[in-house]
Amino acid sequence: MKYGYFDNGNKEYVVTNPRTPVKWINYIGTLDFGGFVDHTGGALICKGDPSLNRIVKYIQQMPSSEFKGETLYLRFKQREGYKIFSPFFVPTLDPYDLYECHIGLGYSRIVSEFFGIRTECTIFVPVNEIREIREVRITNKTGKDIEIDAVSIVEYTHFDAMKQFNNADWVPQTMQSRCIRENNGLLTLIQYAFMRRETNVNFFTSNLPISSFESDRKRFLGDNEYGTWSNPLSLQSEELGNYEANRGDNIGALLHHLGSIKSGETKIFITQLGQEQSFEKARPGIDKYRKPESIKEALDEMGDFWSEFLSRMQVETPDPNIDSMLNVHNPRQCFITKNWSRYLSYYQLGIGTRGIGFRDSSQDVMGVIDRIPEESKKLLKQLMMVQRKNGSAMHSFNPLSMEASKGEAEDWPDRPKYYGDDHLWIILAVTVYLKETGDMKFLEEIIPYYKDSKDERSRESGTVLDHMKRALNFTGNDKGMHGLPHLGFADWNDTVNLRTGAESLFNTHLYGKGLLEMIELCNYLRDAAAAKAYRIEYNKLKETFNQTCWDGEWYVRYFDSDGTPLGSHKNEHGKIYLNAQSWSLISGMALPDRAEKALDSLNKLLNTSKGIKVSWPGFDGYDRTRGGITTFPPGTKENGGIFLHTNPWVIIAETMVGNGDLAYQYYNQINPAAKNDIADEYECEPYVYAQNILSNEHPQFGLGRNSWLTGTASWMYQAGTGFILGIRPCYEGLTVDPCIPKKWDGFKAVRKYRNAIYDIEVKNPGHINKGISRFKVDGREIKGNTAPVFGDNKNHLIEVIMG
Ligand code: GLC
Repeated sequence: MKYGYFDNGNKEYVVTNPRTPVKWINYIGTLDFGGFVDHTGGALICKGDPSLNRIVKYIQQMPSSEFKGETLYLRFKQREGYKIFSPFFVPTLDPYDLYECHIGLGYSRIVSEFFGIRTECTIFVPVNEIREIREVRITNKTGKDIEIDAVSIVEYTHFDAMKQFNNADWVPQTMQSRCIRENNGLLTLIQYAFMRRETNVNFFTSNLPISSFESDRKRFLGDNEYGTWSNPLSLQSEELGNYEANRGDNIGALLHHLGSIKSGETKIFITQLGQEQSFEKARPGIDKYRKPESIKEALDEMGDFWSEFLSRMQVETPDPNIDSMLNVHNPRQCFITKNWSRYLSYYQLGIGTRGIGFRDSSQDVMGVIDRIPEESKKLLKQLMMVQRKNGSAMHSFNPLSMEASKGEAEDWPDRPKYYGDDHLWIILAVTVYLKETGDMKFLEEIIPYYKDSKDERSRESGTVLDHMKRALNFTGNDKGMHGLPHLGFADWNDTVNLRTGAESLFNTHLYGKGLLEMIELCNYLRDAAAAKAYRIEYNKLKETFNQTCWDGEWYVRYFDSDGTPLGSHKNEHGKIYLNAQSWSLISGMALPDRAEKALDSLNKLLNTSKGIKVSWPGFDGYDRTRGGITTFPPGTKENGGIFLHTNPWVIIAETMVGNGDLAYQYYNQINPAAKNDIADEYECEPYVYAQNILSNEHPQFGLGRNSWLTGTASWMYQAGTGFILGIRPCYEGLTVDPCIPKKWDGFKAVRKYRNAIYDIEVKNPGHINKGISRFKVDGREIKGNTAPVFGDNKNHLIEVIMG
């Protein structure tokens, strides 16, 4: 069954059947203010931090039919009482004549027709604003005049999301709502937790007069809450109770009498939900967004942001699915992961202190540096502020308080208190930034290190370059019995938590790749001595690796603390791991014949029609010596599931050996757009990548999980643009090094780079995968395949002939 379609012209996905297998969501605003809205109009909104400053109560685990966070009711009089329904389908579940949710760039628009009443509700957060807007247009299509009331609803949460769920005494005692009456029947409901009355006030208001309101859930639902969200009893009365809650479960319900609407006539109103220090402070913004023209302006401004964001790179290939992913949906997802890390989604609940992940954000940022370099730089600096002076990094941090945590390592007393990979990612992220922007001054910026203990008197600081060097030094001095880097609590694979002393091949490769990046950087900076020292270390590492890690058909993945391998044919479970193969190429450490063999083994043992598995066979039973990976069944997540984040690494590795056909096959087999026709199997949104798909070791092979916030977004974008199309910035300019399917005649791309526009045309007359015979810049043939930096705000034609 299909639940919707791609509207490429409007850059939207349109849901046409609200009964999707799970809620499909869209993000509005940013972490500064925003959240997500689901395709039935429910929303989770917060300001600055989903765990410590949440506004709307949204419980992901409730059934899809339930009320979640926000909604809108309409009603009209019947012979007896009112007919009440939600134009969002949920929570009243009435039959509809039309239902569409347009999932756009930064907005969702629900268009529905129930009982001859057409509703169009556009939901968004204006750029840099602290308010969620809902512009509602109601059109009477019944053929006769009709009186309609509209009731806008929000359910509040305590600001501390965790407290909301673990304390049902103190929390409701703190929650308060007040009504501020303005002129001409306008009013604003304000809501706060008592201790934040002077600092954080939520406001909910409309641009039309409100005839009555309710702020207490019990009163709104009626009959001691034996009234329900699908049939709130108070809505059978002409007016709501105008009750200002002094405690309890606070809601905001605003009743608009829209009056008599003529046949064919449309009435419009605008609600705002936001948070300010006080109502007085919020007032100018409230007034501004009550004006209908401000909505159009705000939507235009947001449209301009997205046009500029997307225009940084646009491609035209023979494959429309790749085009729609690379031009719209993948960059959008990269923007969202950069904003929200793994903080808040339909699967990541943002409760407690997980915050922004060091390794996650270091990778996410690589997917947006070409589009929003300044914001990316800000995030890079924040990340380095939670790096310790010994070079290792804290695992995550809260962006409001900049307090950092050691992640799950805290919960295992007998395991190391750091992740062996975290700090190394920053080297990759910073070098991507430098190659994109040429902003070499960034290397000299001073950034403090994270304090190791609360009573540390002064914090040590270092330049960005110093942070990068210390990251390498930490791992260089942290090796185990084979001379390979320690695992720490975990490496990229969070869930393999071997005993203290274990070694990780992922950390080995990431360290190797970090060394390669530093060699290139030091050479560019003309620091030959440093480059040489890193080269010696790299060569030594590569030699050790090849002496100890070849298993005959593939590379092993770990050595446990007693020296036994994991990811070897000798193991019963976890015989082969994807990352150990792909990263042996990305780090340049695999010997050529082994590289090919490793990729072949991966193809034979790990690939499925729905994506490549992270390992095989899955563990089948809890084993504390292996750690978290044994807590879930074979074929799920990191335990032999199709963990999508790792698939682009294989794509990149295949392009490194020139296998464009296989890279393309791997790219397409996980393209979410292709899942649109099998949505009942796949379940997740077809317009974004999911984190994982259950593999063929699981009875529900093909089921996608944990969509939106995944490193898959950034890496699929990098794999698609930088390695299949091969358009990659370097220190000297823009390299074009495609590795495409043989059947392609070529492709075109427009890429903005260091204040110039590169119009790239690649032709593939000989139908090969990789290799360039001619490279012309503005009509003149040049040697190599790197177009220079122009920085002149002009267009430049780059013609590439493969051969
Ligand atoms: C999750 C985590 C990420 C980790 C991955 C594999 O996506 O957010 O940090 O690398 O799982 O364990």
